[in-house]
Amino acid sequence: MDFLEMAKTRYSARSYSDKKIEKEKLNKILEAGRIAPTAVNFQPQKIIVVQSEAGLAKIASAAKTYNPAAALIVCADTDISWKRRRYDNMDSGFIDASIVTTYMMLEARALEVDSLWICAFNPDIIKKEFDLPENIVPVNILELGYADCEPKSSDRYDAERKPLSETVFYEKLGS
Ligand SMILES: Cc1cc2nc3c(=O)[nH]c(=O)nc-3n(C[C@H](O)[C@H](O)[C@H](O)COP(=O)(O)O)c2cc1C
Repeated sequence: MDFLEMAKTRYSARSYSDKKIEKEKLNKILEAGRIAPTAVNFQPQKIIVVQSEAGLAKIASAAKTYNPAAALIVCADTDISWKRRRYDNMDSGFIDASIVTTYMMLEARALEVDSLWICAFNPDIIKKEFDLPENIVPVNILELGYADCEPKSSDRYDAERKPLSETVFYEKLGS
């Protein structure tokens, strides 16, 4: 299966079975995050793997969650992230953490593990519950597990995504 075909099989899973994620699969998902590119190769990501009932309950106190087998809290370490774009000192930590999250989400799909990317969480609760110091900013939560809902079809993109003509412009931004 080529990349595009595989990526089209991914969808946001919002109902999971009780099946745990095999250790080898979880390790491969984390390895995909490890090899992701980051600005200046600074690798500011800090990933908290949460599989315990107590840990998942802490996440559920900060966000609407869907009973996954595991959740990865992907944080950016702002002491490490690149912030030296000379024009505006942009902090690339959020970008880096999101590239890492994307790599892990797609490796999960390649291993037939389902996922949901969550940003709508209360960062203060996550920081408090997981004792995160000021420089460790939770950026994304990636739920992982085996979906027990009907998978979304790979044919849905014509209806569910904008056509390229609305988002891609050659040489000059069009209207
Ligand atoms: C950056 C980002 C943040 C998201 N945050 C949430 C969230 O907090 N809760 C949720 O249920 N889904 C969340 N999603 C899932 C999106 O709603 C979903 O990817 C989008 O509707 C497209 O559907 P699909 O993933 O099934 O193709 C998020 C996705 C992304 C990429």
